[in-house]
Amino acid sequence: MVVVKTLPEMRALRQQLDTPVGFVPTMGYLHLGHLALVKRARRENPTVIVSVYVNPCQFGPSEDFAGYPRELNRDLELLQTEGVDVVFVPSDDEMYPPEFSSWVDVEKVTEHLEGASRPGHFRGVATIVAKLFNIVRPSRAYFGEKDAQQVLVIKRMVADLNMGIEIAVEPTVRESDGLAMSSRNSYLNPEERRAATVLFKALMLARQLREGGEEDAEKTRWRMISLIQEEPLARIDYVSIADAETLEELNSLDRPALASLAVRIGKTRLIDNMPL
Ligand code: PAF
Repeated sequence: MVVVKTLPEMRALRQQLDTPVGFVPTMGYLHLGHLALVKRARRENPTVIVSVYVNPCQFGPSEDFAGYPRELNRDLELLQTEGVDVVFVPSDDEMYPPEFSSWVDVEKVTEHLEGASRPGHFRGVATIVAKLFNIVRPSRAYFGEKDAQQVLVIKRMVADLNMGIEIAVEPTVRESDGLAMSSRNSYLNPEERRAATVLFKALMLARQLREGGEEDAEKTRWRMISLIQEEPLARIDYVSIADAETLEELNSLDRPALASLAVRIGKTRLIDNMPL
Protein backbone atom coordinates (compact mmCIF):
# COMPACT_ATOMS: atom_id res chain seq x y z
CA MET A 1 0.00 0.00 0.00
CA VAL A 2 1.35 3.40 -0.97
CA VAL A 3 0.58 6.45 1.17
CA VAL A 4 0.61 9.61 -0.94
CA LYS A 5 0.68 13.05 0.66
CA THR A 6 1.12 15.50 -2.23
CA LEU A 7 -0.81 16.34 -5.37
CA PRO A 8 2.09 15.93 -7.83
CA GLU A 9 2.85 12.47 -6.37
CA MET A 10 -0.81 11.45 -6.61
CA ARG A 11 -1.09 12.62 -10.22
CA ALA A 12 2.11 10.82 -11.26
CA LEU A 13 1.10 7.58 -9.53
CA ARG A 14 -2.42 7.70 -10.98
CA GLN A 15 -1.00 7.38 -14.51
CA GLN A 16 0.55 4.03 -13.69
CA LEU A 17 -2.49 2.39 -12.05
CA ASP A 18 -4.64 -0.36 -13.55
CA THR A 19 -8.17 0.75 -14.33
CA PRO A 20 -11.02 0.81 -13.42
CA VAL A 21 -10.11 2.66 -10.25
CA GLY A 22 -12.51 2.40 -7.29
CA PHE A 23 -12.38 5.37 -4.92
CA VAL A 24 -13.58 5.74 -1.32
CA PRO A 25 -13.36 9.32 -0.02
CA THR A 26 -13.32 9.50 3.80
CA MET A 27 -12.55 11.87 6.64
CA GLY A 28 -10.73 9.06 8.46
CA TYR A 29 -11.34 7.62 11.93
CA LEU A 30 -12.57 4.63 10.01
CA HIS A 31 -15.30 2.28 11.23
CA LEU A 32 -17.06 -0.77 9.80
CA GLY A 33 -19.27 1.46 7.61
CA HIS A 34 -16.18 2.78 5.79
CA LEU A 35 -14.69 -0.70 5.61
CA ALA A 36 -17.85 -2.04 3.91
CA LEU A 37 -17.28 0.58 1.17
CA VAL A 38 -13.62 -0.37 0.88
CA LYS A 39 -14.41 -4.10 0.71
CA ARG A 40 -16.92 -3.52 -2.08
CA ALA A 41 -14.48 -1.30 -3.97
CA ARG A 42 -11.86 -4.05 -3.58
CA ARG A 43 -14.23 -6.68 -5.03
CA GLU A 44 -15.18 -4.53 -8.02
CA ASN A 45 -11.91 -2.85 -9.14
CA PRO A 46 -8.29 -3.83 -9.83
CA THR A 47 -7.18 -0.60 -8.11
CA VAL A 48 -8.60 0.88 -4.91
CA ILE A 49 -7.76 4.40 -3.71
CA VAL A 50 -8.98 5.75 -0.35
CA SER A 51 -8.59 9.38 0.67
CA VAL A 52 -8.34 10.47 4.30
CA TYR A 53 -8.94 14.19 4.64
CA VAL A 54 -10.93 16.16 7.23
CA ASN A 55 -12.29 18.84 4.94
CA PRO A 56 -12.46 22.15 6.85
CA CYS A 57 -14.86 23.69 4.33
CA GLN A 58 -17.78 21.42 5.17
CA PHE A 59 -17.83 22.39 8.86
CA GLY A 60 -19.65 25.49 10.08
CA PRO A 61 -17.82 27.98 12.35
CA SER A 62 -19.41 26.55 15.52
CA GLU A 63 -19.09 22.90 14.46
CA ASP A 64 -16.63 20.18 15.48
CA PHE A 65 -13.82 20.58 12.91
CA ALA A 66 -11.07 21.07 15.53
CA GLY A 67 -12.29 18.18 17.69
CA TYR A 68 -13.16 15.80 14.84
CA PRO A 69 -11.47 12.48 15.71
CA ARG A 70 -8.24 11.78 13.82
CA GLU A 71 -6.14 8.62 14.05
CA LEU A 72 -4.22 8.23 10.82
CA ASN A 73 -1.93 5.37 11.88
CA ARG A 74 -4.86 3.21 12.92
CA ASP A 75 -6.69 4.09 9.67
CA LEU A 76 -3.64 3.08 7.61
CA GLU A 77 -3.40 -0.26 9.41
CA LEU A 78 -7.07 -1.00 8.70
CA LEU A 79 -6.71 -0.02 5.03
CA GLN A 80 -3.61 -2.15 4.66
CA THR A 81 -5.55 -5.13 6.02
CA GLU A 82 -8.27 -4.51 3.43
CA GLY A 83 -5.71 -4.64 0.62
CA VAL A 84 -6.07 -1.00 -0.46
CA ASP A 85 -3.54 0.08 -3.11
CA VAL A 86 -3.21 3.81 -2.47
CA VAL A 87 -4.17 6.07 0.44
CA PHE A 88 -4.26 9.77 -0.44
CA VAL A 89 -3.75 12.05 2.57
CA PRO A 90 -3.60 15.60 1.22
CA SER A 91 -2.78 18.71 3.24
CA ASP A 92 -4.96 21.80 3.77
CA ASP A 93 -2.27 23.93 2.11
CA GLU A 94 -2.47 21.97 -1.12
CA MET A 95 -6.25 21.53 -1.13
CA TYR A 96 -7.06 25.13 -0.23
CA PRO A 97 -4.16 27.45 -1.12
CA PRO A 98 -4.64 31.12 -0.18
CA GLU A 99 -5.83 32.08 -3.69
CA PHE A 100 -8.52 29.34 -3.72
CA SER A 101 -11.83 30.78 -4.97
CA SER A 102 -13.87 28.20 -6.93
CA TRP A 103 -16.82 26.37 -5.39
CA VAL A 104 -19.35 23.77 -6.46
CA ASP A 105 -22.90 24.69 -5.45
CA VAL A 106 -25.58 22.06 -5.98
CA GLU A 107 -29.04 23.65 -5.77
CA LYS A 108 -32.52 22.39 -4.77
CA VAL A 109 -31.73 19.05 -3.10
CA THR A 110 -29.41 20.93 -0.71
CA GLU A 111 -32.22 23.24 0.48
CA HIS A 112 -33.59 20.69 2.95
CA LEU A 113 -32.49 18.69 6.00
CA GLU A 114 -28.69 18.93 6.49
CA GLY A 115 -28.47 21.74 3.95
CA ALA A 116 -31.02 23.81 5.92
CA SER A 117 -29.48 23.03 9.32
CA ARG A 118 -25.83 23.41 8.27
CA PRO A 119 -25.53 26.34 5.84
CA GLY A 120 -22.58 25.91 3.47
CA HIS A 121 -22.08 22.24 4.41
CA PHE A 122 -22.92 20.81 0.99
CA ARG A 123 -20.98 23.51 -0.83
CA GLY A 124 -17.96 22.25 1.11
CA VAL A 125 -18.78 18.60 0.43
CA ALA A 126 -19.47 19.04 -3.30
CA THR A 127 -16.32 21.14 -3.74
CA ILE A 128 -13.97 18.71 -2.01
CA VAL A 129 -15.52 15.68 -3.70
CA ALA A 130 -15.22 17.36 -7.12
CA LYS A 131 -11.57 18.21 -6.37
CA LEU A 132 -10.83 14.65 -5.21
CA PHE A 133 -12.56 13.24 -8.31
CA ASN A 134 -10.39 15.49 -10.52
CA ILE A 135 -7.22 14.37 -8.77
CA VAL A 136 -8.00 10.64 -8.42
CA ARG A 137 -10.01 10.29 -11.66
CA PRO A 138 -11.94 7.22 -10.43
CA SER A 139 -14.25 5.08 -12.52
CA ARG A 140 -16.44 4.39 -9.49
CA ALA A 141 -16.82 6.10 -6.13
CA TYR A 142 -18.39 4.57 -3.03
CA PHE A 143 -20.58 6.31 -0.45
CA GLY A 144 -22.70 5.19 2.53
CA GLU A 145 -26.49 5.40 2.65
CA LYS A 146 -26.15 6.83 6.17
CA ASP A 147 -25.49 10.20 4.49
CA ALA A 148 -28.46 9.85 2.15
CA GLN A 149 -28.66 13.54 1.26
CA GLN A 150 -24.92 13.63 0.54
CA VAL A 151 -25.45 10.74 -1.91
CA LEU A 152 -28.21 12.67 -3.71
CA VAL A 153 -26.04 15.81 -3.86
CA ILE A 154 -23.06 13.92 -5.29
CA LYS A 155 -25.18 12.06 -7.84
CA ARG A 156 -26.69 15.39 -8.94
CA MET A 157 -23.24 16.98 -9.24
CA VAL A 158 -21.82 14.04 -11.21
CA ALA A 159 -24.79 14.13 -13.62
CA ASP A 160 -24.93 17.93 -13.99
CA LEU A 161 -21.18 18.34 -14.52
CA ASN A 162 -20.90 15.26 -16.80
CA MET A 163 -18.23 13.70 -14.62
CA GLY A 164 -18.90 10.17 -15.91
CA ILE A 165 -18.22 8.51 -12.55
CA GLU A 166 -20.41 5.67 -11.29
CA ILE A 167 -21.66 6.34 -7.76
CA ALA A 168 -22.10 3.15 -5.72
CA VAL A 169 -24.08 3.24 -2.48
CA GLU A 170 -23.78 0.78 0.41
CA PRO A 171 -26.38 0.26 3.17
CA THR A 172 -25.80 1.78 6.60
CA VAL A 173 -23.81 -0.43 8.93
CA ARG A 174 -25.30 -0.54 12.43
CA GLU A 175 -24.23 -1.55 15.93
CA SER A 176 -26.14 -4.52 17.41
CA ASP A 177 -28.66 -2.12 19.04
CA GLY A 178 -29.30 -0.31 15.74
CA LEU A 179 -27.13 2.81 16.22
CA ALA A 180 -25.69 3.76 12.82
CA MET A 181 -21.90 3.61 12.75
CA SER A 182 -20.38 7.09 12.72
CA SER A 183 -17.01 8.56 13.67
CA ARG A 184 -18.97 10.99 15.89
CA ASN A 185 -20.27 8.11 18.07
CA SER A 186 -16.85 8.32 19.75
CA TYR A 187 -17.98 11.61 21.38
CA LEU A 188 -20.74 9.84 23.36
CA ASN A 189 -20.29 8.92 27.03
CA PRO A 190 -21.91 5.63 28.17
CA GLU A 191 -25.18 7.31 29.20
CA GLU A 192 -25.37 9.22 25.89
CA ARG A 193 -24.47 6.08 23.96
CA ARG A 194 -27.52 4.37 25.48
CA ALA A 195 -29.74 7.38 24.70
CA ALA A 196 -28.49 7.51 21.08
CA THR A 197 -30.46 4.36 20.22
CA VAL A 198 -33.54 6.60 20.15
CA LEU A 199 -32.71 7.62 16.54
CA PHE A 200 -32.96 4.04 15.29
CA LYS A 201 -36.06 3.40 17.42
CA ALA A 202 -37.82 6.42 15.85
CA LEU A 203 -36.91 5.28 12.33
CA MET A 204 -38.10 1.75 13.05
CA LEU A 205 -41.37 3.18 14.35
CA ALA A 206 -41.82 5.04 11.05
CA ARG A 207 -41.12 1.87 9.11
CA GLN A 208 -43.52 -0.20 11.23
CA LEU A 209 -46.26 2.40 10.83
CA ARG A 210 -45.71 2.42 7.07
CA GLU A 211 -45.75 -1.38 6.89
CA GLY A 212 -48.97 -1.34 8.93
CA GLY A 213 -50.57 0.78 6.20
CA GLU A 214 -50.11 4.31 7.61
CA GLU A 215 -50.19 6.85 4.75
CA ASP A 216 -50.25 10.08 6.75
CA ALA A 217 -46.73 11.54 6.77
CA GLU A 218 -47.57 14.20 9.36
CA LYS A 219 -48.93 11.61 11.79
CA THR A 220 -45.78 9.51 11.27
CA ARG A 221 -43.54 12.55 11.94
CA TRP A 222 -45.43 13.31 15.17
CA ARG A 223 -45.21 9.73 16.40
CA MET A 224 -41.43 9.84 15.82
CA ILE A 225 -41.13 13.21 17.58
CA SER A 226 -43.13 11.98 20.61
CA LEU A 227 -40.94 8.90 20.91
CA ILE A 228 -37.72 10.96 20.79
CA GLN A 229 -39.09 13.45 23.34
CA GLU A 230 -39.40 10.61 25.86
CA GLU A 231 -35.57 10.45 25.90
CA PRO A 232 -34.35 13.22 28.28
CA LEU A 233 -30.85 13.47 26.71
CA ALA A 234 -32.20 13.97 23.16
CA ARG A 235 -32.87 17.34 21.50
CA ILE A 236 -34.42 17.24 18.04
CA ASP A 237 -32.90 19.26 15.21
CA TYR A 238 -35.28 17.90 12.56
CA VAL A 239 -37.51 14.89 11.87
CA SER A 240 -38.44 14.50 8.24
CA ILE A 241 -40.61 12.33 6.04
CA ALA A 242 -39.68 13.45 2.56
CA ASP A 243 -39.80 12.44 -1.08
CA ALA A 244 -36.85 10.05 -1.49
CA GLU A 245 -35.52 11.89 -4.58
CA THR A 246 -36.29 15.59 -4.03
CA LEU A 247 -36.28 15.55 -0.20
CA GLU A 248 -39.37 17.78 -0.17
CA GLU A 249 -41.56 17.10 2.86
CA LEU A 250 -44.57 14.87 2.17
CA ASN A 251 -48.13 15.07 3.43
CA SER A 252 -49.01 11.64 2.17
CA LEU A 253 -46.85 8.53 1.85
CA ASP A 254 -47.96 7.92 -1.73
CA ARG A 255 -44.45 7.49 -3.23
CA PRO A 256 -40.99 6.27 -2.16
CA ALA A 257 -40.07 8.27 0.94
CA LEU A 258 -37.09 8.79 3.20
CA ALA A 259 -37.53 9.08 6.96
CA SER A 260 -34.57 11.03 8.33
CA LEU A 261 -33.60 12.86 11.45
CA ALA A 262 -30.91 14.88 13.17
CA VAL A 263 -30.88 14.70 16.96
CA ARG A 264 -28.46 16.08 19.53
CA ILE A 265 -27.51 13.69 22.29
CA GLY A 266 -25.77 15.96 24.77
CA LYS A 267 -23.38 17.98 22.61
CA THR A 268 -23.18 15.37 19.84
CA ARG A 269 -25.29 15.86 16.73
CA LEU A 270 -26.21 12.53 15.12
CA ILE A 271 -28.06 11.85 11.87
CA ASP A 272 -29.70 8.73 10.49
CA ASN A 273 -32.30 7.76 7.91
CA MET A 274 -34.37 4.88 6.60
CA PRO A 275 -36.15 4.45 3.27
CA LEU A 276 -39.91 3.91 3.68
O1 PAF B 1 -18.84 11.51 4.04
C1 PAF B 1 -17.73 12.01 4.33
O2 PAF B 1 -16.95 11.47 5.11
C2 PAF B 1 -17.35 13.35 3.73
O3 PAF B 1 -18.45 14.20 3.61
C3 PAF B 1 -16.60 13.22 2.39
C4 PAF B 1 -17.49 12.60 1.33
C5 PAF B 1 -15.36 12.36 2.58
C6 PAF B 1 -16.17 14.60 1.90
O4 PAF B 1 -15.32 15.22 2.80
